[in-house]
Amino acid sequence: MRQDRSLRISRRDFLATSAAALVVSTASPSSAAASLSLKDACRDLFLVGTALDFRSPTEFTAAELDLIKSQFNVITPENSMKPGPVHPQENSWNWTQPEALVAFCQDSKIKTMGHCLVWHSQTNPWFFQGADRDLLLARLKEHIHTLVGHFKGKISGWDVVNEAINDNAGAAGVENLRASQWREIIGPEYLTQAFKFAREADPNVALHYNGYNIEGGAKHQSSLVLLKRLISDGAPITTVGIQGHWSVANMNAQKLEQIEQAVENYKALKLKVAITELDLTMTGPGGGQLGGQRGAPAAPPSPEALAAQADAYARLFALFVKRRDAIDRVTFWGLNDRRSWRRGQNPLVFDAENQPKPALQAIVDSVAKARA
Ligand code: XIL
Repeated sequence: MRQDRSLRISRRDFLATSAAALVVSTASPSSAAASLSLKDACRDLFLVGTALDFRSPTEFTAAELDLIKSQFNVITPENSMKPGPVHPQENSWNWTQPEALVAFCQDSKIKTMGHCLVWHSQTNPWFFQGADRDLLLARLKEHIHTLVGHFKGKISGWDVVNEAINDNAGAAGVENLRASQWREIIGPEYLTQAFKFAREADPNVALHYNGYNIEGGAKHQSSLVLLKRLISDGAPITTVGIQGHWSVANMNAQKLEQIEQAVENYKALKLKVAITELDLTMTGPGGGQLGGQRGAPAAPPSPEALAAQADAYARLFALFVKRRDAIDRVTFWGLNDRRSWRRGQNPLVFDAENQPKPALQAIVDSVAKARA
């Protein structure tokens, strides 16, 4: 009861703040972005998303709320539904932030994706303490049933297992699973079980395997071995999430071919593909590994660097449109360069002041051309 009441209060405060912000933003349109919209450009092709959390009712400025609503039709919680934040102790759940996000999405007619049910990172140690195989499976089941069940009917899809494959190549033709405590204690079938538990909790939701660098090289081969095993073991997987933490420097013809081949290979397994965490760093490496460059704001990018990023995004989106037969969503990992987890590398299409970078126009033009 107490938890319910605090939820209602936070939702009401939250909506009141959002409504006030909207009045302000309608009265004085804040950016040129209003006339160029990613979601409109990609209408009938695939959903276009962002990742964020409402850590407080005043999390976003009026301009940011305007941007969220005008540009995106799906949102992934950047952190608030991960096992660590949402389920800190066995009998304790933090519903306030994820509830605020889902309420905002429902009120704004935006879809919500769930991220993520099982991961080696951002997971509290209590899961594994004193756990043998049966106990850990029971905890996994309870975690997934409670979390997926809580949002049943309000979430379009879940990243069920995140980043299960090692970065270093294994022997050819093996899954090369990361030695997480999930694998060590339960065994490789923890993935199949997680998918089954998620399906039990919501019969209609899309269920993803999500990972970075799975589109190429040995990790791609491992992902195919893993996915085939999951399918043959009856895991109710629907979608592969290619995270898409890439860099402008690497987005050459070879990389684009590699991505297209990966989409083709996943489609051949009768899976959909989503680009789940897209960002293109302007400096330094990309990559989904935690601990990348961030923190200090980058120096203002040069016009040449902005143009190179615009070109890279344009070529990528032309590919996404070409492969719209398989791709059902493209989500950017963050709203603007100030809020990005790679904020030192300016990887998004809105700058730190919410102004569109050249990449926005380039994407809109590229999508219009590719869909013609
Ligand atoms: C990142 C968040 O953006 C950060 O705020 C957090 O500190 C660490 O996690 N792959 C994923 C995401 O699946 O959950 C990660 O998000 C980025 C890499």
